[in-house]
Amino acid sequence: MTLRPILIHPDPRLKKIAAPVVRVTTALTRLADDMLETMYDAPGIGLAAPQVGVMARMFVMDCVKDEGEVPCPIVIMNPEILWLSEDLSTYEEGCLSIPEQYGDVERPAAVELQWLGLDGQIHKQRFDGLWATCAQHELDHLNGKLFIDHLKPMRRQMITRKMQKLKREQARP
Ligand code: NI
Repeated sequence: MTLRPILIHPDPRLKKIAAPVVRVTTALTRLADDMLETMYDAPGIGLAAPQVGVMARMFVMDCVKDEGEVPCPIVIMNPEILWLSEDLSTYEEGCLSIPEQYGDVERPAAVELQWLGLDGQIHKQRFDGLWATCAQHELDHLNGKLFIDHLKPMRRQMITRKMQKLKREQARP
Protein backbone atom coordinates (compact mmCIF):
# COMPACT_ATOMS: atom_id res chain seq x y z
CA MET A 1 0.00 0.00 0.00
CA THR A 2 1.13 3.51 -0.79
CA LEU A 3 0.18 6.85 0.63
CA ARG A 4 -1.14 9.06 -2.17
CA PRO A 5 -0.70 12.84 -2.13
CA ILE A 6 -3.98 14.62 -1.42
CA LEU A 7 -4.89 17.52 -3.71
CA ILE A 8 -5.42 20.82 -1.94
CA HIS A 9 -8.22 23.22 -2.92
CA PRO A 10 -8.24 25.17 -5.22
CA ASP A 11 -7.49 22.57 -7.90
CA PRO A 12 -9.44 22.13 -11.16
CA ARG A 13 -9.64 18.35 -10.56
CA LEU A 14 -11.66 18.97 -7.39
CA LYS A 15 -14.29 20.83 -9.46
CA LYS A 16 -14.88 18.12 -12.08
CA ILE A 17 -17.53 15.43 -12.31
CA ALA A 18 -15.90 11.99 -11.92
CA ALA A 19 -16.61 9.15 -14.37
CA PRO A 20 -18.50 5.97 -13.40
CA VAL A 21 -16.48 2.84 -12.67
CA VAL A 22 -17.04 0.37 -15.51
CA ARG A 23 -15.63 -2.71 -13.80
CA VAL A 24 -13.63 -3.58 -10.72
CA THR A 25 -10.00 -3.99 -11.78
CA THR A 26 -6.90 -4.82 -9.73
CA ALA A 27 -5.79 -1.21 -10.24
CA LEU A 28 -9.02 -0.02 -8.61
CA THR A 29 -8.66 -2.49 -5.74
CA ARG A 30 -5.13 -1.19 -5.17
CA LEU A 31 -6.40 2.39 -5.36
CA ALA A 32 -9.03 1.58 -2.69
CA ASP A 33 -6.33 0.15 -0.38
CA ASP A 34 -4.11 3.19 -0.95
CA MET A 35 -7.02 5.58 -0.33
CA LEU A 36 -7.93 3.87 2.96
CA GLU A 37 -4.32 3.98 4.11
CA THR A 38 -4.03 7.65 3.07
CA MET A 39 -7.30 8.47 4.87
CA TYR A 40 -6.29 6.73 8.14
CA ASP A 41 -2.84 8.33 7.96
CA ALA A 42 -4.19 11.87 7.48
CA PRO A 43 -6.24 11.18 9.71
CA GLY A 44 -9.69 11.53 8.20
CA ILE A 45 -13.03 9.68 8.05
CA GLY A 46 -13.59 9.88 4.29
CA LEU A 47 -11.65 10.31 1.05
CA ALA A 48 -12.86 10.49 -2.54
CA ALA A 49 -10.84 9.39 -5.59
CA PRO A 50 -10.73 12.90 -7.16
CA GLN A 51 -8.91 14.06 -4.00
CA VAL A 52 -5.98 11.86 -5.03
CA GLY A 53 -6.31 12.93 -8.68
CA VAL A 54 -8.25 9.90 -9.94
CA MET A 55 -11.46 11.00 -11.67
CA ALA A 56 -13.49 7.87 -10.85
CA ARG A 57 -16.76 7.67 -8.92
CA MET A 58 -15.30 6.03 -5.86
CA PHE A 59 -14.84 6.96 -2.23
CA VAL A 60 -13.82 5.32 1.01
CA MET A 61 -15.01 6.06 4.54
CA ASP A 62 -14.76 4.86 8.11
CA CYS A 63 -16.60 6.90 10.69
CA VAL A 64 -15.52 4.74 13.65
CA LYS A 65 -13.38 7.29 15.45
CA ASP A 66 -12.96 5.98 18.99
CA GLU A 67 -9.70 4.34 19.95
CA GLY A 68 -10.10 0.66 20.61
CA GLU A 69 -13.23 0.28 18.47
CA VAL A 70 -13.14 -2.09 15.52
CA PRO A 71 -12.49 -0.17 12.26
CA CYS A 72 -15.24 -0.29 9.66
CA PRO A 73 -13.77 0.65 6.26
CA ILE A 74 -16.26 0.92 3.39
CA VAL A 75 -15.35 1.24 -0.30
CA ILE A 76 -18.14 2.74 -2.41
CA MET A 77 -18.22 2.94 -6.21
CA ASN A 78 -20.92 4.44 -8.44
CA PRO A 79 -23.08 5.54 -5.50
CA GLU A 80 -26.76 6.31 -6.09
CA ILE A 81 -28.97 8.02 -3.52
CA LEU A 82 -32.10 5.90 -3.02
CA TRP A 83 -33.58 7.97 -0.23
CA LEU A 84 -32.85 11.07 1.83
CA SER A 85 -34.54 11.82 5.17
CA GLU A 86 -36.65 14.93 5.57
CA ASP A 87 -34.94 15.47 8.91
CA LEU A 88 -31.84 17.58 8.62
CA SER A 89 -28.79 17.69 10.81
CA THR A 90 -25.87 20.07 11.05
CA TYR A 91 -22.27 19.00 11.47
CA GLU A 92 -19.12 21.07 11.57
CA GLU A 93 -17.43 19.63 8.48
CA GLY A 94 -13.83 19.64 7.38
CA CYS A 95 -12.05 18.15 4.39
CA LEU A 96 -8.61 16.68 3.80
CA SER A 97 -8.36 18.90 0.68
CA ILE A 98 -9.08 22.00 2.81
CA PRO A 99 -6.86 21.44 5.85
CA GLU A 100 -7.71 23.05 9.17
CA GLN A 101 -10.81 24.86 7.90
CA TYR A 102 -14.25 23.96 9.23
CA GLY A 103 -17.82 25.05 8.71
CA ASP A 104 -21.35 24.08 9.69
CA VAL A 105 -23.18 22.27 6.89
CA GLU A 106 -26.83 21.23 7.06
CA ARG A 107 -27.74 18.01 5.23
CA PRO A 108 -30.37 15.27 5.41
CA ALA A 109 -29.80 13.38 8.69
CA ALA A 110 -30.06 9.94 7.04
CA VAL A 111 -29.43 8.59 3.56
CA GLU A 112 -29.91 5.27 1.82
CA LEU A 113 -27.28 4.48 -0.81
CA GLN A 114 -26.86 1.83 -3.45
CA TRP A 115 -23.37 1.19 -4.78
CA LEU A 116 -20.97 -1.17 -6.47
CA GLY A 117 -18.59 -2.88 -4.04
CA LEU A 118 -15.10 -4.24 -4.62
CA ASP A 119 -16.71 -7.71 -4.66
CA GLY A 120 -18.52 -6.70 -7.86
CA GLN A 121 -21.88 -6.86 -6.08
CA ILE A 122 -24.50 -4.14 -5.64
CA HIS A 123 -24.83 -3.08 -2.00
CA LYS A 124 -27.63 -1.15 -0.29
CA GLN A 125 -27.39 0.44 3.10
CA ARG A 126 -28.90 3.19 5.20
CA PHE A 127 -26.50 5.56 6.94
CA ASP A 128 -27.27 7.74 9.94
CA GLY A 129 -25.47 10.34 12.05
CA LEU A 130 -21.88 11.06 11.11
CA TRP A 131 -21.95 8.26 8.51
CA ALA A 132 -24.79 10.01 6.65
CA THR A 133 -22.97 13.35 6.66
CA CYS A 134 -19.71 11.75 5.55
CA ALA A 135 -21.36 9.76 2.72
CA GLN A 136 -23.02 12.92 1.35
CA HIS A 137 -19.81 14.95 1.70
CA GLU A 138 -17.85 12.29 -0.23
CA LEU A 139 -20.57 11.91 -2.87
CA ASP A 140 -20.38 15.68 -3.40
CA HIS A 141 -16.68 15.26 -4.24
CA LEU A 142 -17.63 12.97 -7.15
CA ASN A 143 -19.73 15.82 -8.53
CA GLY A 144 -17.02 18.46 -8.16
CA LYS A 145 -18.58 19.92 -5.05
CA LEU A 146 -16.80 20.77 -1.79
CA PHE A 147 -18.29 21.39 1.66
CA ILE A 148 -17.38 25.08 1.34
CA ASP A 149 -19.82 25.27 -1.59
CA HIS A 150 -22.54 24.86 1.07
CA LEU A 151 -21.24 27.88 3.04
CA LYS A 152 -22.02 31.55 2.48
CA PRO A 153 -19.97 33.11 -0.39
CA MET A 154 -17.99 35.40 1.94
CA ARG A 155 -16.86 32.49 4.10
CA ARG A 156 -16.10 30.36 1.04
CA GLN A 157 -13.94 33.12 -0.47
CA MET A 158 -12.11 33.63 2.80
CA ILE A 159 -11.26 29.92 3.07
CA THR A 160 -10.22 29.79 -0.60
CA ARG A 161 -7.85 32.74 -0.11
CA LYS A 162 -6.31 31.00 2.92
CA MET A 163 -5.77 27.85 0.85
CA GLN A 164 -4.20 29.83 -2.01
CA LYS A 165 -1.81 31.35 0.50
CA LEU A 166 -1.02 27.91 1.98
CA LYS A 167 -0.27 26.51 -1.50
CA ARG A 168 2.01 29.46 -2.33
CA GLU A 169 3.91 28.85 0.90
CA GLN A 170 4.20 25.12 0.21
CA ALA A 171 5.46 25.80 -3.34
CA ARG A 172 8.32 27.90 -2.05
CA PRO A 173 11.69 26.10 -1.85
NI1 NI B 1 -13.75 16.28 1.59
